[in-house]
Amino acid sequence: MLPEIELDRTEELLPIFALGTWAIRDPRAMERTIRRAIDEGLWHIDTAEMYEGAEEIVGRAIRGRRDEVFITTKVMPHNASFRGTIAALERSLKKLKTDYVDLYLLHWYDGSHPLGETMEAFAYLIEQGKVAYAGVSNFSVKEMEEALRYLKIVNNQVEYNLDNFREVEEELLPFAEENGITLSGYLPLWRGAWPTGERMEVLKSVARKYGMTVPQVVLNFLTRHRKIIVIFKTENEDHLMENLKSVEFEVEPEDYRRIEEAFGRG
Ligand SMILES: NC(=O)c1ccc[n+]([C@@H]2O[C@H](COP(=O)([O-])OP(=O)(O)OC[C@H]3O[C@@H](n4cnc5c(N)ncnc54)[C@H](OP(=O)(O)O)[C@@H]3O)[C@@H](O)[C@H]2O)c1
Repeated sequence: MLPEIELDRTEELLPIFALGTWAIRDPRAMERTIRRAIDEGLWHIDTAEMYEGAEEIVGRAIRGRRDEVFITTKVMPHNASFRGTIAALERSLKKLKTDYVDLYLLHWYDGSHPLGETMEAFAYLIEQGKVAYAGVSNFSVKEMEEALRYLKIVNNQVEYNLDNFREVEEELLPFAEENGITLSGYLPLWRGAWPTGERMEVLKSVARKYGMTVPQVVLNFLTRHRKIIVIFKTENEDHLMENLKSVEFEVEPEDYRRIEEAFGRG
């Protein structure tokens, strides 16, 4: 079983990983990979109205298995007026072929609509039973503070990889933990744009020491505190299995330090 994290102060336990669905190349492969992921204990699927075709693919993949999965989807900021949010959620539900989503996020905040209005729509949708939990994405500490004035948000989904882990762990995480917000991190594998030079050499050297692959080293590092949900995307079942196994390796603190030093500098 994958290690689990509590969606803070909700008693809802989620796997340490979620499966992303952005920029799907092969819908059938993605559908197969989602089904395999659920079989393997990765039952949190991340999608968004913005990811073209993704909600439909998730809907097909979870047919007959709705109770087994936790679905996160997102409203785009330009749709996030009170009425617009409700309409966006209805469209997402139709595509996902379900009558509720587990976690509904504001994809990012751009001021198109007052934040209070979006949060009011989230509260209404929770009351209606169409959304279980509300959250945000790409929010700074200041923006999380503002959102909390309107609604008990439980999640902030932010970029999290070896390029920005310090900022996330030292600035966003302490505030989130104090305020009952669980962080989830996207782009952990840089969408396949791997680092080069000395940084890659450090990752390869740690990988060799433990018999791991570079993606496994990266995912093991990002999940080392068991505090942040890490969302990776793959439509390849071998990559899925490789990524899930990354948490099984016990990496020594000195090797984490080598990675921190290589990436934490710039
Ligand atoms: N809230 C936001 O603003 C936001 C922004 C970006 C992303 N997201 C979410 O976060 C998810 C993850 O981010 P992402 O998709 O941008 O990037 P990512 O997970 O960092 O990278 C995905 C890429 O890595 C490859 N990959 C995965 N495992 C691999 C492995 N073991 N070996 C080699 N290649 C591997 C995948 O290709 P294969 O399919 O070939 O494995 C895919 O091309 C998204 O899908 C989306 O759900 C949210």
